[in-house]
Amino acid sequence: MKVELRNEIHGGLPPHDDHPYRSGVWRPQYREYDAWDLDVEGEIPDDLAGVYLRNTETAVFEPAKRYHPFDGDGMIHSIGFANGEATYANRFVRTEGFLAEQEAGRSLWAGITEHPSNAEADHGWGARSMMKDNASTDIIVHRGEALASFYQCGELYRLDPHTLETKGTTEWGGFFPQEGVSAHPRVDEHTGELLFFNYGIEAPYMHYGVVSPAGELVTYIDVPLPGPRLPHDMMFTKNWTILNDLPLFWDPEALASGYYSNVFRRDLPSRFALVPRHGSTEDIRWFEADPTFVLHWTNAYEDGDEVVLDGFFQHNPTARGVDRTANVDSKHKGFETLDMNVLQARQHRWRFNLVTGETREEPLSETCSEFPMINGQHGGRSYRYSYNALCARGIFAFNGLVKHDVETGSETFWHAPEGTFVSETVVAPRLSSTAEDDAYLLTFSCDMVNDESHCEIFDAADPTVGPIARVRLPERISSGTHATWAPASQLT
Ligand SMILES: [Fe+2]
Repeated sequence: MKVELRNEIHGGLPPHDDHPYRSGVWRPQYREYDAWDLDVEGEIPDDLAGVYLRNTETAVFEPAKRYHPFDGDGMIHSIGFANGEATYANRFVRTEGFLAEQEAGRSLWAGITEHPSNAEADHGWGARSMMKDNASTDIIVHRGEALASFYQCGELYRLDPHTLETKGTTEWGGFFPQEGVSAHPRVDEHTGELLFFNYGIEAPYMHYGVVSPAGELVTYIDVPLPGPRLPHDMMFTKNWTILNDLPLFWDPEALASGYYSNVFRRDLPSRFALVPRHGSTEDIRWFEADPTFVLHWTNAYEDGDEVVLDGFFQHNPTARGVDRTANVDSKHKGFETLDMNVLQARQHRWRFNLVTGETREEPLSETCSEFPMINGQHGGRSYRYSYNALCARGIFAFNGLVKHDVETGSETFWHAPEGTFVSETVVAPRLSSTAEDDAYLLTFSCDMVNDESHCEIFDAADPTVGPIARVRLPERISSGTHATWAPASQLT
């Protein structure tokens, strides 16, 4: 392996820190590398071409009070593949907040579990304002650029997908919305359009927009909601964009007093907005379904008169029944809602009938999983396979994957070795791919036994046999959340 250490970032955490999201599998990484001629077990396939990108939330300075993993600054990892070779780089996103805190040598913004007024800074971002936009949630590729997003609403930070040089923020011709963009914009690989929404605490509480393949904001409309909501993700079909108003949101009474606490209203339905891709506010069709909260959607497509939406129905979105006083490591108290096994997140299907206005819904699986990935060529179109993360118990980390055939209902599993955790697993179609699962699966692993990380490469047709190749990284990386695959054809 050839490795160049490019930078070492100045951090400021307590000595012997044992916070569960700043130690162990979440141990922050401060060194930035470029690496090539990487050590490989097995062989990197010749027909794997593109870049796998992963965002990791990395604690640099301790917030004034409590720390939550979503407070970490965005560090992106990039591994590019071409002609059976791989190159790797990792870099912090040089956000305005990251640079200001590096300069100050301490946190200037409060963590998300604290009131924003605890910020030392005089400005901020986010649906509740005065937060640090840390660009540490998602990473997507649009118009050949990597875009890093904030878990509430903020800027989209642009990076070179190979070198990870931060190139400023998206401007969209001067029309980037002042309300920002939520964590999960979506790119339709068939059209090159970027679809997004944002949300906030002032009416109309949500907006929806479309950015053209040329980088112009061509649609931006109000999506009026009954009050402030906490939507995390969106989905699309060929003709429709699907937004949501789910009954887990900021308690209005607390909000009126200036505080932010969540309430789940089991007496309210889940509501889904179907918006024609380039439609207006008046064109929105609303559908109702059973109350739940959904963190991530898998896919959606059109089927005759129906729009079909798959995602992860939380059967216990407020972590009810968890004994918060006993049998829970005190370090982990307050983080129960990060455990998908507690939330009982299971793949689910909604069918919205455009003729009758009715919704039908059904569970697709009894398996607790989340963070689904599909072959991006099937995004918004009919599909058969999703690859979902299996979630470790008691900590926000993944310890395996399930290939879910949503046509037959069959599921096949790969469990990581004891002490190894993996990441959201992306689907990389082979060059000249001939079938939906004629592809590779890529994931970064954290091996806590040997203190090392690999990029693990699986055959998507049968991930149960384990990695067919393992590419070693210079240093064990931190855990994190979202990832993406950009085929070489999207990077030109
Ligand atoms: Fe997410």
